[in-house]
Amino acid sequence: MAKKNPFFRKDILSSDQFSREDIAILFKKADVMKKLVQRKGGSNILRGKIMTALFYEPSSRTFGSFVSAMQRLGGGIIPLQGMANSSAAKGETLEDTIKTFESYSDVIVIRHPEVGSAKRAADAASISVINAGDGIGEHPTQALYDVYTVEEMFGSVRNLHVVFYGELAHYRPVNSFAKLLTLYPQIKMSFVSPPVAALNPTTREYLKKKKVSFQELNGIDKVISDADVLYVTRVKKEFMSEALYNKLKGKYVVGKQIVRKMKKKSIIMHALPRVDEINTDVDKDPRALYLRNQVRNGLFVRMALLALVLGKV
Ligand code: CP
Repeated sequence: MAKKNPFFRKDILSSDQFSREDIAILFKKADVMKKLVQRKGGSNILRGKIMTALFYEPSSRTFGSFVSAMQRLGGGIIPLQGMANSSAAKGETLEDTIKTFESYSDVIVIRHPEVGSAKRAADAASISVINAGDGIGEHPTQALYDVYTVEEMFGSVRNLHVVFYGELAHYRPVNSFAKLLTLYPQIKMSFVSPPVAALNPTTREYLKKKKVSFQELNGIDKVISDADVLYVTRVKKEFMSEALYNKLKGKYVVGKQIVRKMKKKSIIMHALPRVDEINTDVDKDPRALYLRNQVRNGLFVRMALLALVLGKV
């Protein structure tokens, strides 16, 4: 069984570690999890397994959905949220914390404000580590359920124009989602942002290396009527100076005047939390998936991932 499971005992650190075949295996399992939740609420396949959720940075969805995923599969959790109450506040190193929690648990899910922190944790750990967001670096599990949502809505991930809109420089889901999209055929990406908050240079180089079709723009007018997916971002206040935040806030906002120009069969996504970058009157539009399918799919994909990583499938 473990031979056919490419996730078994693996660290999940970056979108660039996956093949399309890996993702197909994960999504098949996520479909099973979705039905399981709908029919029975969950199962006991992870009974006897424990997940440490080590969140050094605020989170609602990622923390909540990983905890829910583990509990719906009968596993246990060590929830550490807000590290002010942990020994990290006393000066304990990340490595020492990881070595401690690997004694207590079978998998560690970590969110941390520094790029590369999940890799550091994985290097220190002898159990699987899942990156739940490392600074402005990556958020691979977010990207996995973003692609799952696109596949669910369009039937396949091919021949689509994905428009990223807003503050891109510090928004880690953009890096992870764009990288995953390079695996699929005939994908076109447009990155629309203010020049001071343009696409992360590492991601730009990755896209060039993969020879995918992409462009960078400052305005949305030229691309909005062709967009299949509009992926909206929040200005990541926590990762920038106050001066830059004041310059960016409220500038790239999606309202009905933009949505009106979109195709009937397009979709609007946002990793959330949303502050003011999508007007709330857009939420009722059937194309707006962020508070519906997209957020729900996070649970199913994370249930599938935990089951696969822990080899209980
Ligand atoms: N999308 C996401 O990562 O949300 P949280 O910051 O609430 O976990």
